[in-house]
Amino acid sequence: MTEPIDWQVLHEAALSAMRAAYAPYSRFAVGVAGLVDDGRVVSGCNVENASYGLSLCAECTMVSNLVLTGGGWLRAVWCVDADGNTLMPCGRCRQLLWEHGGRECLLRTPNGVLPMSQVLPQAFDASDITAVTDR
Ligand code: THU
Repeated sequence: MTEPIDWQVLHEAALSAMRAAYAPYSRFAVGVAGLVDDGRVVSGCNVENASYGLSLCAECTMVSNLVLTGGGWLRAVWCVDADGNTLMPCGRCRQLLWEHGGRECLLRTPNGVLPMSQVLPQAFDASDITAVTDR
C-alpha cells in the first residue's frame, strides 16, 4: 500500500529551503519540497544571478537535488513564498515537475491539492517525442 502523504513534513522542508534562498535581486525568496516515491524528501530554493535571466527557480534546484540524490518519481510537491504561503510554480517549473512526477503527482495549491494533470493540462512530454521517433 502507498504511504500517506505527510504534508506537514513537506511544508517544513519547503520553509527551511526558502530560508536558504539566494534572492538579492527580486528579494522574493521561494522554497519547495517534494516527496519522492521511495520516501525521500527533496527540497530547493531559488538561486538568482546578476544576469537576471540566469536565475534558477526553487523547483530547478529541487529537481537537481532529486536527480543528484538518486532520482525517483515525485509524489507530492509544496512550494512556498517568504511568508510561508502556498505558491503556484511558474509555467516552466510546472513542466519540470511533470517530467519528474507525471500527471498524478500532487501539488499543494491555494485551491487545495491538485494533480499535475489539472495544473498543466495537455502537457508536452516524452511520449510526444517517441510517438514520432519510434514510428
Ligand atoms: N520563482 C521560483 O523560484 N519559482 C517559481 O515557481 C516562481 C518564481 C523565483 C524566481 C525568482 O528568483 C523569484 O521567484 C521572483 O520571480
